Amino acid sequence: MRPPAEAIGALALIVGGIAFLIFVGVEAALVYAAWRYRASRVAGPVPQIHGNTRLEIAWTVIPILILAAVLVLMLGTMREISASAPPSNGAAALRVLARGYQWWWEFRYPTANGDVVTANELHIPANTAIDLDLESGDVIHSFWVPEIAGKTDLVPGHSNRLRLYASHAGTYTGQCAEFCGVEHAWMRITVVAESPADFQRWLDGQGAARTAPSGAATEAGERVFLENVCVSCHTLRGTTAGGTAGPDLTHLASRATLGAGVLRNDAASLRAWLDDPQRYKPGSLMPHVPLSAADLDALVTYLGSLQ
Ligand code: CUA
Repeated sequence: MRPPAEAIGALALIVGGIAFLIFVGVEAALVYAAWRYRASRVAGPVPQIHGNTRLEIAWTVIPILILAAVLVLMLGTMREISASAPPSNGAAALRVLARGYQWWWEFRYPTANGDVVTANELHIPANTAIDLDLESGDVIHSFWVPEIAGKTDLVPGHSNRLRLYASHAGTYTGQCAEFCGVEHAWMRITVVAESPADFQRWLDGQGAARTAPSGAATEAGERVFLENVCVSCHTLRGTTAGGTAGPDLTHLASRATLGAGVLRNDAASLRAWLDDPQRYKPGSLMPHVPLSAADLDALVTYLGSLQ
């Protein structure tokens, strides 16, 4: 199996090549006709002709043949990259569930100890086929990380599947590719492909409960979190917070960005985000929670400790 992106890239080159040849042919005919029948070469007006059966059959049949050839090539590529194709190394593909929400991504990894849940940052082992089950929690979204996969919609009430394959370790960026509301542009995807050992370490870490607070600042921060509306939308495994309307924050500090790519995940940005989320992502469900400066600082310290 070629990586899906490679198969799609090869098909795009072939189709682009065919389109280029047609372009050259049509332009050449146009230039020839303009030159051949220029005013200085024809005496008087050229009589209008009506119909030419042979020509019309030719320019109907030729495009049909070209499009049929493109269809055959495309069906072959679709079969090659489909999630039902056996991975080249014979190993079963890793299954991950991706769910799209306005405007963030939830990723669930089924494990023996239950689902490991994270958001916006998908970690995968490199050189391994991943079958992503795509679902939507609200409207139609589209999962698109062009360097490692095709593009497939997430449709409410229906599950789609997409094969991902990263041939080397690295960070790949993607984007929701279906207009899904005002913050559609801030529905970024980060895919981190790493060695199987690093991936397993990451998965084990993400599966653990939150880092328990140690020290006055983080203890105060956890209290602020648990005593405010944060708990009605967010889960912090290991605490009583179990909301599911927003991203799971159990290991928030391990992620590179906030708000599905809107801000870098550092203390200053986190404070700014918590202080006024609607300034950075207007329309998102994350409300402004009125907190004292001391509570805000404690919350930032606490969330920053959740590796
Ligand atoms: Cu989700 Cu556009």
